[in-house]
Amino acid sequence: MKKDIIAVYPGSFDPPTNGHIDIIGRAAKIFPKVIVAITHNYNKNHMFTLEERLSMMKESVSAMKNVKVSSFSGLLVDYLNEINSFCIVRGLRALSDFEYEFQMALMNRKLKKNVETIFLMPDQEYTFLSSSMVREIASLGGQFKNFVPKSVYKKIMSKRKLNV
Ligand code: COA
Repeated sequence: MKKDIIAVYPGSFDPPTNGHIDIIGRAAKIFPKVIVAITHNYNKNHMFTLEERLSMMKESVSAMKNVKVSSFSGLLVDYLNEINSFCIVRGLRALSDFEYEFQMALMNRKLKKNVETIFLMPDQEYTFLSSSMVREIASLGGQFKNFVPKSVYKKIMSKRKLNV
């Protein structure tokens, strides 16, 4: 039994949504320290730069004192080694997430023997939410205020103004 577990919640968070913040809040109640680790997903074209995503996430979790926001490049398991962690937190919204998450969890365990992935379920009100939906609604002029933290809403709105 380890008392000083550092839980890492990795993702691209492009942008962070209320669903992500819900998972972070749950993890922060379970683990003494949670690191939200933002990275580049090579399968996606990101809307926000890494700096923008870091800044939006930092503002969104500023009230959670045991949560730190950081970034990494390369393999997640290498980052875990760097910060002396073996615990990954991921959110499971629906059955459709399961196959991808299962594959990723087992691959991470192949890459690093003692790694564990803990799955948390967000509030059911966020099970339909994803970053790409927020990006699509926002870029088509729809209302997305209720889906993202305030700081993210402001950032997207200011970006939208720049593009008109
Ligand atoms: N609420 C709302 N949305 C959620 C959510 C939640 N609780 N949990 C996940 N999502 C959404 C994300 O916003 C994302 O939406 P999008 O596809 O519309 O943008 C989608 O679900 C998938 O998210 P996710 O699986 O977390 O993708 P990701 O890019 O955020 O994270 C990494 C994947 C970064 C963790 C993974 O690619 C990785 O570890 N990369 C490092 C390289 C590496 O080690 N590769 C080998 C891995 S085995």
